[in-house]
Amino acid sequence: MSQPVLSLKNVNVYQDNNAVITDINLEVFPGEFIYIIGKTGSGKSSFMKTLYGDLKLKQGEGTFVDYDLATLKERNIPYLRRKIGIVFQDFKLLPDRNVYDNLLFVLKATGWSEKREMDVKINEVLDKVGMKNAVYKMPHQISGGEQQRVAVARALLNDPEVIIADEPTGNLDPQTSVEVMQLLKEINQNGKTIIMATHDYALLMKFPSKTLKCDSGTLFEVVQRTV
Ligand SMILES: Nc1ncnc2c1ncn2[C@@H]1O[C@H](COP(=O)(O)OP(=O)(O)O)[C@@H](O)[C@H]1O
Ligand SMILES: [Mg+2]
Repeated sequence: MSQPVLSLKNVNVYQDNNAVITDINLEVFPGEFIYIIGKTGSGKSSFMKTLYGDLKLKQGEGTFVDYDLATLKERNIPYLRRKIGIVFQDFKLLPDRNVYDNLLFVLKATGWSEKREMDVKINEVLDKVGMKNAVYKMPHQISGGEQQRVAVARALLNDPEVIIADEPTGNLDPQTSVEVMQLLKEINQNGKTIIMATHDYALLMKFPSKTLKCDSGTLFEVVQRTV
């Protein structure tokens, strides 16, 4: 059995000094697709922020993509983040530059410098998400669903072990949500671990997978009814 990509023992997730979720025990293995569900304010985003170093792990033990979260130093956060890809609800593309330059910006910021290599990589990830023909479009010239595809491409740039997606379909209509979901599923089938927060239960029913629920300060696995 392979090593878990994420392992949490007796972890509390904090916002300031408030414990948002307590006593999380969880292992996620390579190739899994995990949903984190729960109503607004239940702690889904806080949980994910704790994984990518936006919130400190102040209580409990955790390792994520080989980093010890409890002892994670500020200076190591960028290296942790290179091993994961993050997708947000609001896409977060830079509005002042085209798709190509959005991706180029991230490559340069994460240590790439060889022009040809960067060009090959940008074309490769855009191809993966079906957005090759939008390479010179500005974000405002493409639809929300297309922007989210580009955001997924951006998350793939450094060939991450894990993709964290925080309500990636939250701003999309149902049909577009399904398309983005199909893309994430395909990426998962190609071997990437995905942890995705959502409160879209319809989507969950369409694409069933292991599901953890955030509720009343706890995080626990739920068994999905498929009817
Ligand atoms: N930046 C913040 N500072 C303080 N409290 C916050 C912050 N962000 C979220 N919270 C609080 O943490 C709790 C969990 O929020 P959040 O993790 O955003 O939940 P969800 O993503 O499930 O909607 C809520 O009570 C929220 O008010
Ligand atoms: Mg949230």
